[in-house]
Amino acid sequence: MVRFTLSSSLLVLAFASFATAAPSLQERTSEPTSGFVGQTTCNGKTYTYRELAGYGFVPSNFRDKYGDTVSLGSSIALERKSWEKKTRAVLGGGNRTIETYYEGTLWTMPDRGWNTEGTTLWQPRLHKFQIDFTPKLANAASPSPPNVKLLYIDTILLRDPSGKPISGLEPTTILNYGGFPALPAAKYTGDGFGGAGQGGVRVSMDPEGLVLDTQDDDGGFWISDEYGPYVYKFDKTGKMNMAVRPPDAYIPQRNGTQSFASNNPPIYNPDLHPVPANPESGRSNNQGFEGLTVSGDGKSLYVMLQSAMIQDGGLDKTTNRYTRMLEYDISGKGKAKLSGEYVVPLPQYIDPTKKPGSKPRTAGQSEIQALGDDQFFVLSRDGFGRGTDLTTSQYRQIDVVDIRKASDIKPRKLQTVTTSPTSGTLLSSITPAMYCPFLNFNVDSELSKFGLRNGGADDENCLNEKWESIAMMPVDGNDGDDDEWWVLSMSDNDFITQDGYISTGDIRYVDGSGKNFDNQALFFRVKLPNNSKPFSEKNY
Ligand SMILES: *[C@@H]1O[C@H](CO)[C@@H](O)[C@H](O)[C@H]1NC(C)=O
Ligand SMILES: *[C@@H]1O[C@H](CO)[C@@H](O)[C@H](O)[C@H]1NC(C)=O
Ligand SMILES: *[C@@H]1O[C@H](CO)[C@@H](O)[C@H](O)[C@H]1NC(C)=O
Repeated sequence: MVRFTLSSSLLVLAFASFATAAPSLQERTSEPTSGFVGQTTCNGKTYTYRELAGYGFVPSNFRDKYGDTVSLGSSIALERKSWEKKTRAVLGGGNRTIETYYEGTLWTMPDRGWNTEGTTLWQPRLHKFQIDFTPKLANAASPSPPNVKLLYIDTILLRDPSGKPISGLEPTTILNYGGFPALPAAKYTGDGFGGAGQGGVRVSMDPEGLVLDTQDDDGGFWISDEYGPYVYKFDKTGKMNMAVRPPDAYIPQRNGTQSFASNNPPIYNPDLHPVPANPESGRSNNQGFEGLTVSGDGKSLYVMLQSAMIQDGGLDKTTNRYTRMLEYDISGKGKAKLSGEYVVPLPQYIDPTKKPGSKPRTAGQSEIQALGDDQFFVLSRDGFGRGTDLTTSQYRQIDVVDIRKASDIKPRKLQTVTTSPTSGTLLSSITPAMYCPFLNFNVDSELSKFGLRNGGADDENCLNEKWESIAMMPVDGNDGDDDEWWVLSMSDNDFITQDGYISTGDIRYVDGSGKNFDNQALFFRVKLPNNSKPFSEKNY
């Protein structure tokens, strides 16, 4: 009897798994075949925003393996080889269906740490996550629950060329290492968090852009920052092995000498402001290298300032639209050779909190993504959203930039690209890049598919302010030959939580806002122009 029961249940199991694969069971297809939310044609190439297809988040009080609060949207980078399209059986309600999902490994980067009350000795780092994304056909009438899962794997702490921890403190000095340019650094007192201690000096970084390296056999990470603004290379363990200093025009100057402070005093001395507060020239405070990307073949690195430099109109939001992008040839292992410089005109928007008739203001950019053929995605946005004066964002878009016809101004070594810092008018001898508005995050009919919205109550369904990252994944899970791509963007939540930890879990913090901002993530589906290759080699 016992034997019989056992074998018959085995039979049932075998039949069930056969039934899973049988074609009579309808596959839940969730890929749209027609219709779109937005479209643009840029220098003859057409881009289509099909739909918002995914939403997920990492909770604001999630902690890494060192015990510190996780924030992560300043930049993200996909391990391309890891991206896979899969299917799995789903049981429920007496039915068994097959769903399509994707898996991949995503590197995510926070900036300089919790700093709403001052910068700290916190050590910048990278977090590795496994992503699990199940596209859903959703609509506003029955919104989908979150369908993007982010499973924490690991954290890498960033260290200087001598192996010492880097910190997020505002730079007050420099450190010199053989073979490196002068590195922005901070002298600190106490424990660097406002408690007792011996003090010391640490290299300072405010990381904003992340690219995984494929040129060196040992891999590693390129990271752009906004103190220098510099571009750094780190090995796989998180140790700095290269620093790239941009042309002199980019280096912030006070009293005629380099001065890397961004006017964000340390938490232990809120009065330690740089004098003068703003540099006289070079990158504006907190407007450094926000955008970093690499060409599909891994050989060209592009880095873009958030908005214009001070001498290009950078001190005023009505004049700071002419930002600059640098191109580096990184095909020679361990080298980065400046190979191009372009002016990009950022978009402008009307700020409803200002007097009617006020001049349009610049939407600074927070990330770029190379698409091939001299075209790029650029994520530009105003400063509105959850936790700001106005929860309703006026401009939050992934747009298209084309540099094919733009002047390469690198040979001219220009200190300024505008007629005067106060006018912000571009020199007539420069052809800027073409800028084409494209994918608007703030379309409520799309957001409502996941119960989200732009504006309204300052709650967890309202979009965060700081969307600062882009990763792209082929919809076919393979090489994207059909030009159908997912675009993932994540927001930087500024470590805002009522249940926070810094200093390897030793110090608890409670953000003064009284808020908890999750680290939100959105998956958009786009159709790229014919034969686009954001990346063609599955080499990392
Ligand atoms: C199961 O399938 C039946 C028949 O197709 C359908 O009516 C029912 O809604 C399904 N149940 C669930 C939970 O999906
Ligand atoms: C610039 O000069 C002023 C006036 O002499 C001085 O107070 C300030 O510390 C100087 N700033 C820097 C960064 O050298
Ligand atoms: C893209 O390719 C399709 C099919 O090959 C073709 O019909 C269409 O004209 C192409 N579009 C452009 C803009 O080249």
